Amino acid sequence: MSAEEALFQRFGKEIPVGTVLCREGEPGKEMYVIQSGKVRISKKVRDVEKVLAILGPGEFFGEMAIISNKPRNASATVEEAARLLVIDPKTFEAMIRGNSEIAVRMIKKLAERLSDADAQVETLLLSDPNSRVVQHMLQLCQTRGRPLEEGIEIDFPIRDLPRELAVGEPAIRYLCHRLEKSGLIELQGDRLTVRDTARLFDYLRFLEAKLKFGDL
Ligand code: CMP
Repeated sequence: MSAEEALFQRFGKEIPVGTVLCREGEPGKEMYVIQSGKVRISKKVRDVEKVLAILGPGEFFGEMAIISNKPRNASATVEEAARLLVIDPKTFEAMIRGNSEIAVRMIKKLAERLSDADAQVETLLLSDPNSRVVQHMLQLCQTRGRPLEEGIEIDFPIRDLPRELAVGEPAIRYLCHRLEKSGLIELQGDRLTVRDTARLFDYLRFLEAKLKFGDL
């Protein structure tokens, strides 16, 4: 039996799509590690659901309520049927105390999440939808980009972005089509290659200048 299977035997649960595992503002006594599937982390802002992240295999959530003894700071909903490890606070503490590698990995992940949150704040401060999409592409290149000969490749699942960027899917697709036609990017399914990040950054500055000066 693989280590992953052994952990699943002990702590695992199969959770169907649509299940809400954490509700913002409610107390919580478990944390979760995703073995497969996807989980949506969201917050309600003026009654509108704002997606903070879509988490996948290897990622964890629900640790904050356990660590800080505070209510859940966001909701977590199964987006794609998932196999999850459900860890109670005692086991969590024993894992962290007993294995410094787990603790270090967790700290790294939390630092990454904080810097992603900072980047999201920066993106949402841009009032123009096209600028938000381009800024998001550039941020992904910086934080999760894979250098290739043709440019920098990023995961860019367009259907997940409208809620995250507050831009409609047709508008994102139309912008991608224009950027592709002008040779700035290449889109293949959920993968996008930015040919030249400096040029895309110039385009972002152009969009911002257009917003500032209009057609003056
Ligand atoms: P907790 O507050 O216990 O329950 C909701 C969980 O969502 C929270 O712990 C975190 O694990 C997770 N979470 C909150 N904000 C983010 C974020 N910006 N990115 C990824 N996960 C988050």
